[in-house]
Amino acid sequence: MLAYRHGFHAGNHADVLKHLVLTRVLRYLGEKDKPFRYIDTHAGAGGYLLKGAQAQKTTEYREGIGRLWSRADLPPLTADYVRLVQEFNLQPDENGQAPVLEKGMTPPLALYPGSPSIARQLMRPGDSMRLFELHPADARTLATHFGGKNVQVINEDGFAGLKGQVPPTPRRALVLIDPSYELVQDYGKVVASVRDAVQRFAEGVYMVWYPQVSRVEAVQLPKRLTALAPKGWLHVRLTVAQPDAKGFGLVGSGVFILNPPWTLHQELAAELPFLVDTLAQFDDASYLLEEQPA
Ligand SMILES: C[S@@+](CC[C@H](N)C(=O)[O-])C[C@H]1O[C@@H](n2cnc3c(N)ncnc32)[C@H](O)[C@@H]1O
Repeated sequence: MLAYRHGFHAGNHADVLKHLVLTRVLRYLGEKDKPFRYIDTHAGAGGYLLKGAQAQKTTEYREGIGRLWSRADLPPLTADYVRLVQEFNLQPDENGQAPVLEKGMTPPLALYPGSPSIARQLMRPGDSMRLFELHPADARTLATHFGGKNVQVINEDGFAGLKGQVPPTPRRALVLIDPSYELVQDYGKVVASVRDAVQRFAEGVYMVWYPQVSRVEAVQLPKRLTALAPKGWLHVRLTVAQPDAKGFGLVGSGVFILNPPWTLHQELAAELPFLVDTLAQFDDASYLLEEQPA
């Protein structure tokens, strides 16, 4: 049985990096007048209560989205992502009540959107979604909130399920592979899934998130992915914290993209110094940004 629940980590520094990049890639796909499919192999619950027991137990969101929430000086990509999170916080609650705000006021930070919600905010009527989630409780939550014509929630293994999803019709898609890496085998499964999917659908955009932890599999993952990218890749990593006294802990995270938007490197280069300054939990916070253009 899976123990990992994203509710404990929603909105942390790793979600900030992942969702900021996700927002930009989805915007890019939406620029062309041709539908795309969003395939999320590890979708989570779709949305999270930051005042709920899980998020309150760790309060990780305070060092992530919490540090960006009320800032008026956000650079463009970060501002766009934060705006989406703010819109998500303007939804009516279960009693039908939405926060009432004066013009220009920021809503209180109470909710955090998962990757499916961010995608839904950016989808156009012809676009579609396939959401895999293995944990039964999270899959149920997802199914409750995500229905409709162009959306399928699939309570199955996303690594195995990806095979049947590529190539999609029409042949335009973003695949987000965002495992919890609770099992060390996940690193190898990411590589195998991407290799297989790229053989079937080389022109797809693939986005892999990984944790920056003291584990050889995590360190090797981006290198292994570079070998699978036929048409170019981009790798971004944001290091914000120090390891704990035993040398463990999530010190940062990375996102590896196959077939990235061609402007992304330049755009991220302009944002990352701000993110390092704003999300740093120690003096030597840093970023890495590298690419192999198409
Ligand atoms: C990091 S969370 C996903 C977060 C989500 N993508 C987001 O950004 O909001 C990873 C999720 O994968 C689920 N999971 C773990 N193994 C899985 C598998 N083999 N297939 C599908 N889902 C899996 C976990 O239950 C967890 O909800």
